[in-house]
Amino acid sequence: MLAVMSQWLTISRAAHLLGISRMALQTRIREGDLPSFDGMVTVDDVQRSWPQLDLDESGSFEKTRAIREDAFAKRLRERVLPTQETLAQRLFVQGQELAELQRTLTRYHRLFEALRARLDAAPPPDTADLARLLDEGLARALSAPAPSEDVAALDAMLRVMSAHVTVKPSGREFFVEGSETLLKAALRAGLAPNYGCGNGVCGLCKARVVAGETRAVSPSDYRFSEAEKAQNHVLMCNCTALSSDLVLEVLEADAPEDIPEQRIVAKVRRIDALNADVMRLHLQTPRSNRLRFLAGQRVTLGIRAGVRDGSDVHGEFPVASCPCDDRNLIFHVSRSDRRTASADFSACVFDGRVRLADDVSVWGPWGTFVLEKGSARPLVFIAVEDGFAPINSLIEHAIAVDAAESIMLYWASAQAGGQYLPNQCRAWAEALDEFSYKALTNDELPAALAANAALAASDVYLAGAAESVAPLAAMLVAAGLPPAQLHVESL
Ligand code: FES
Repeated sequence: MLAVMSQWLTISRAAHLLGISRMALQTRIREGDLPSFDGMVTVDDVQRSWPQLDLDESGSFEKTRAIREDAFAKRLRERVLPTQETLAQRLFVQGQELAELQRTLTRYHRLFEALRARLDAAPPPDTADLARLLDEGLARALSAPAPSEDVAALDAMLRVMSAHVTVKPSGREFFVEGSETLLKAALRAGLAPNYGCGNGVCGLCKARVVAGETRAVSPSDYRFSEAEKAQNHVLMCNCTALSSDLVLEVLEADAPEDIPEQRIVAKVRRIDALNADVMRLHLQTPRSNRLRFLAGQRVTLGIRAGVRDGSDVHGEFPVASCPCDDRNLIFHVSRSDRRTASADFSACVFDGRVRLADDVSVWGPWGTFVLEKGSARPLVFIAVEDGFAPINSLIEHAIAVDAAESIMLYWASAQAGGQYLPNQCRAWAEALDEFSYKALTNDELPAALAANAALAASDVYLAGAAESVAPLAAMLVAAGLPPAQLHVESL
């Protein structure tokens, strides 16, 4: 009954509020530190479980403070209608007042419950007993809130700043920050919705609004049929969430075969050397023609080198970036010529025949080296040399979807220190409690894997040159890893 008085939060929203991952929160629930019911927790229980929560230190509070200061400066300058920032600030203040009222009501409710229990008890209370109970209860009801009791107010503010979206039928969730589009927010959260042009023309990103309201934030040329209008269809690429809780029915890709083959022309945005043997090739797709792929997949890149030597040059490369990275496609191009099919393209990158602003054709996506859907097992990633490229994409995606209990990355290279993006791996390990990273030589890798007793209960993703990964895969299976949990990408 008491819970009726407390505000309920979904686990995602509570994690968002606390600034921790959903998995970390679920671990606390599993360990019995935080009661939950049907995927929900109460604000009171969150406050009890995180008494040390310092909202002044939280990023959300910082954001609110910045908005407040910004709004103050603008008000001085403008002295006209309230700005969006001012409105947000006022909503926050109202949220605090509402939270205070809810808190007081909860305390009165507890007082009445206690009085009721006392009246029902034997022996019946005398007047002095009841007076004392009332005095104590009223003192509690009217006491000032503890600093950590601003959780409900902050949640009210976050509901204005970021909307929570539940996707049907998958049940996935994501948050829409500010007025970003539903498509951008869904991709950032690691979802794979159907989409094409990204700017309101093709209609592929259609979604049905099951509950809540949306608002168009940019014009669209797409015309809905009468039936689609009647069923509340919207375009994810030009709408944002108006309601703080929205339910959408969305067509999502579940597997590589759900994604059609595409061919687009992207531009070279940047080329830089990661070390003496690996170049990072950064392509950007046109605004109106994005590449749809799943993290871990490959594409074919082609350049018209014919302008200079009379032939087209192609190569197949794993995309090293995550589909959540909007129009940016990153590739790690290796000097190694072991992949004969890609050697010519790699040579063009290394000898300067691929230049800034050049057109590069992109076909694909190919391959099935993608995260296993629905698995909550710990993730172990093993990259050998530039096998790190698809692993990088998978890790970024795994972090975005926040579905794994823990992530372990082994990155092996022939030379000690041959890992060409060590800072990025260390940054993941420092920023995420559940992330561990080991840089090894190729010779050290088998012993390190053999020493990991948790491997057999994990999903293992292994990528690198065929001659390196084949013996490692055989070793892992011989050591007890179920073959269905082993995913191998031979480059
Ligand atoms: S209309 Fe083409 S992706 Fe939205």
